[in-house]
Amino acid sequence: MNGKPLHEAFNRTAYPITGHGKRNIGVLKDALNAYDGDLDSDIYGEGSIIEGFQGKMAGILGKDKAVFFPSGTMAQQIALRIWCDRKGVKRVAYHPLCHLEIHEQRGLHELHGIEPVLLGGKDRLISLGDVQELYGKVACLLLELPQREIGGQLPDFGELEAISACCRERGIALHLDGARLFEVLPYYQKSAAEVCALFDSVYISFYKGIGGIAGAILAGDAGLAEESKIWKRRHGGDLISLYPYILSADYYFEERLPNMGRYYEEAVELAGLFNKCQQISTLPAEPVSNMFHVHAALSKERLEPLLIELYEETGVGLTHYLRETGETSCYFEISVGDRYALIPKEELHRAFAILDEKLAAVL
Ligand SMILES: Cc1ncc(COP(=O)(O)O)c(C=O)c1O
Repeated sequence: MNGKPLHEAFNRTAYPITGHGKRNIGVLKDALNAYDGDLDSDIYGEGSIIEGFQGKMAGILGKDKAVFFPSGTMAQQIALRIWCDRKGVKRVAYHPLCHLEIHEQRGLHELHGIEPVLLGGKDRLISLGDVQELYGKVACLLLELPQREIGGQLPDFGELEAISACCRERGIALHLDGARLFEVLPYYQKSAAEVCALFDSVYISFYKGIGGIAGAILAGDAGLAEESKIWKRRHGGDLISLYPYILSADYYFEERLPNMGRYYEEAVELAGLFNKCQQISTLPAEPVSNMFHVHAALSKERLEPLLIELYEETGVGLTHYLRETGETSCYFEISVGDRYALIPKEELHRAFAILDEKLAAVL
């Protein structure tokens, strides 16, 4: 018996529209093939592979120093701990749907005794007004760009500058959850360093739009970087060898960074196709990065068989899962990557025409 028919139907499609490709070990093999087998491994955070990559990323992000971590979860909890120690306050502010609040099992509190202050609403971005009205002392404000759980929305750059200025005035450190930082640069028309200049510390990920295996960089001033290495060891993240993550991060960074503008434009085009279908709308209505959410005014139980039929008739796979938001509504996330450009336009448009017909039939 199979418990995930939508997932299995999606896996059988010739043209999945989301992501770069399958997460199989070929992803690592392709990357490692590009390197000389005689290259020495990094050893506990030292050696040319890790030090070279950290230096390169510090330069790109315009920060003094950068440190490679096995995960963003570890890197960000450590960054916030350092800011709390520096400011002598065990409170940080962030969005109610940020990764730390909903995906990390209260790690920040359990491991570091830090209390979060939830800022803004679950259905919108943190605004300048929220920061101005922030009550009581906090060591740090974490902003996530783009805010994933609300479809990858972004503040205007001007608002971001004003939030940054407000934090500086109030002595609040500003930390960037930039898991998808490179994906938003085409919309902002800024360099990574220009965006990061508004923040005191920055985390970036190598397995989202970049499409690597795993891994993260934490960047900031030299003192923060040195302290973060100590915390990385305490957290058990100072692996003797991190090169499989570092080399694949660097390989896919070089390969995919130049494509970020195309992924963004394709996301705008794809969201347009979804928005023409009845009972479907995207959030944001026009994407500001390579990601967006697709909301359906239909229950998961009704939409799922309809999608399976669509995949079987057209070979175009839209999503492998649906998440319920109410009795008659559900959604899924789209991240445009390498796969989208491989779909013949004719097949894509035919699939959306059929989807629209199927949705009309269940009205
Ligand atoms: C916005 C955001 N922040 C942080 C993380 C944590 O990254 P990691 O999986 O490397 O711990 C994620 C991972 O999905 C994320 O989406």
